[in-house]
Parts: sequence; C-alpha cells; structure tokens
Amino acid sequence: MRTEIIKVHRDDINNNIKDIKTAGSIIKSGGLVAFPTETVYGLGGDALNPQASEKIYSAKGRPSDNPLIVHIADFDSLNLITTHVPEVAVKLSDAFWPGPLTMIFEKSDAVPLTTTGGLSTVAVRMPNDNIALEFIRHSGGYIAAPSANLSGRPSPTTAQHVFEDMDGRIEMILDGGSCNIGLESTIVDLTGEEPMILRPGYISKSMLEQVCGSVSVDPAIVGPVNTDLRPKAPGMKYRHYAPKGALSIISGEANSVSEYIIQAIRNDHQNGKRVGVIACNGSLEKYNEADFLGAAGNRDDEIAISSSLYRLLRQCDEENIDTIYSEEFDTPQLGMAIMNRLMKAAGHTVIHL
Ligand code: TXA
Ligand code: MG
Repeated sequence: MRTEIIKVHRDDINNNIKDIKTAGSIIKSGGLVAFPTETVYGLGGDALNPQASEKIYSAKGRPSDNPLIVHIADFDSLNLITTHVPEVAVKLSDAFWPGPLTMIFEKSDAVPLTTTGGLSTVAVRMPNDNIALEFIRHSGGYIAAPSANLSGRPSPTTAQHVFEDMDGRIEMILDGGSCNIGLESTIVDLTGEEPMILRPGYISKSMLEQVCGSVSVDPAIVGPVNTDLRPKAPGMKYRHYAPKGALSIISGEANSVSEYIIQAIRNDHQNGKRVGVIACNGSLEKYNEADFLGAAGNRDDEIAISSSLYRLLRQCDEENIDTIYSEEFDTPQLGMAIMNRLMKAAGHTVIHL
C-alpha cells in the first residue's frame, strides 16, 4: 500500500475540503487515515466498524486489549455510543470541549468490543483542531484513533513522524503541521462515584476540580512504580515512548544536576558512547560536549517543553545516541503530564542527587 501525505492548510481549510472528503470516504470504506490533533497525531479508522479497529491494532503492532479513544465532532454524538451521559460530563464538555480531555462512559451496543479492547466502557474525545473536526464530520462522525506511532515509539507530533512509523501501513496522512501541545489528552473516568484521572495531560487536576469538584487520580500512575497496582487505563501499563538509548532523569538542585551531567558525558565518552542531553535553555549550553543537545525551550514555557519532548526522544534515536540524560521538568500545570511520559520513557530511572 502507498501512503499518501496530503498537506492541509488549517487557516484556509475550505481549499482542502475535497481532500478531507476523500479522507472521509477512505474511513467509510474501512481504511485508515492519520490526522492532526492539538495533542498528537491520531491513527483514525471507523470506530463503529470492528474490522477497522482490527486494522488499527495491526498497523500499530498494538496489543488488542488496549482500547481506542473515539473522536467526535459534536456533543450530541455521545447519545449513540453511550448508555448514559452524566451531568458532570455536560459540565466538563462545556468547559473543555473541543479540547485535550478524554472522558470515559458506559458504552452502548453501537460500539464494537474490538474498539474498546473488550471493555464495557468507551473513551470519547472532541479534539480542538479544525482539520480533525472537519475530517470526523466527513467520516460518519465516529473516528477511533490511538496515537499514530508504532507501539513502543514516542507519539508523533508531525506528519513526518507518522510517515516514519506508518509508511505502507495506512492509506493517507493529513498533514496539518506540528501539534500544539505534543502530549496526549488527559483521560478522566466518569463511570465511578467520583471522576478519576487515568492519564495526566494538559487539562490538570485543579482545572477539572474548578469545574466539577473533587477529582481523584489513579494511584497506579503517580509516584514510584508500584507493580502491585494495575493502571485503570490499560495502555498506561505498557512501557511507551521508549527511545533506543538508556534514558536517565537527573533530579536535584540545578548546579548539582549540571555537574553530574557534565561528568556523565565525559565518563560515557571514555567508554565510547554517544551521549544526548535534554534540558531547558539556560543550562543547555553547559552540555556542549554532548553529541546531541535536545533543547526543551524556556523553563517557564510549559507548552514549549511538552511540545518538544517526543520530537527530542525521536531525534536521539536518529542520532544513534546510547545514553540520554534529562533534567526534570516539574512545571506547575503540565509538569505531572510531562514527568509521567518522561518517567515511562526512562523506564523510571531517576538519579536523585
Ligand atoms: O490525545 C490523545 O488522546 C490522542 C489523540 C490522537 O487524540 N490519542 C491517544 O490514544 O493518546 P492512545 O490509544 O495512544 O491512548 C489511549 C489511552 C490508552 O492508555 C488506553 O488504554 C486508554 O486511553 N483507554 C481507552 N479507552 C479506555 C477505557 N474505556 N477505559 C480505560 N482506559 C481507556
Ligand atoms: Mg499512544
């Protein structure tokens, strides 16, 4: 199969309506199209067609017990795919949809079990991206889409990343440029007594609590790894986003962190290794002995850090880096999401100074 990349200009989307309709008809006939969202690129198929979901799992090389998120373009689309829309969902959607928030509901029979990985619940999100919304509308309204990377690779934040992983596996990629946020959506489960965060993202716990009162966090996704706890979002148990090089997070006071990393670069060089460093502007120039310098932006610009993380991890692979040292990015709103992804990429290797 040839994978076609179609450039779509988001500020003049009417010019590309023909291409978006073509993408929609690929979905309606059971094919796969990758598309941009404000978080990461999605690998889309018809959420109501079990064969399409199976194709998604096989294109990604993803275990089929890991459920897919259903993307919709308007709130009323929830009626067909859920048995019940709780009041809290109305409040959260008023506040955050379209946007980087996925909500979990009891599913209706319209959603095949292949789409939900065998679960009786369904995850739903309305992305804040005009290309994605138009594409969903022209595809029949329900797009199942995981991140458009091969399983185990960092999620794609550009169409080029998608092409690297999916060339020959899917029919089309809609290229809408770089994703704004660069980390997957916040997932909140609304099927229990109290809303519970299953995956941290741009929409933080305090933003949710301002809208709907107390919110808990799945204990399996915070703090040190605890192998006794099983994450409630099946995908959170896999070691995702792993670069080929050994990644360590260096935690401590800024000067000690710099001294440690500089020394580690020298030691690794003596052992013939290629070394990469991921750091914010301000400290990055201290590491110019490294073979790859990953600039995560200014420390007070959380979006710069979140949107560059996966790209930097992919670049470490391209540069054949053997060992990677990263600073910690415990920023106020996005810190929990950034550190959650970075910790997984590092297999939870943190060096506390
Ligand atoms: O930002 C995003 O959410 C991106 C873009 C493309 O929208 N999508 C995304 O999908 O990150 P994916 O498949 O890479 O991650 C979906 C996560 C997995 O961890 C999965 O286990 C969880 O959502 N999930 C999906 N349905 C679920 C359900 N019914 N119950 C619990 N977790 C669920
Ligand atoms: Mg993913």
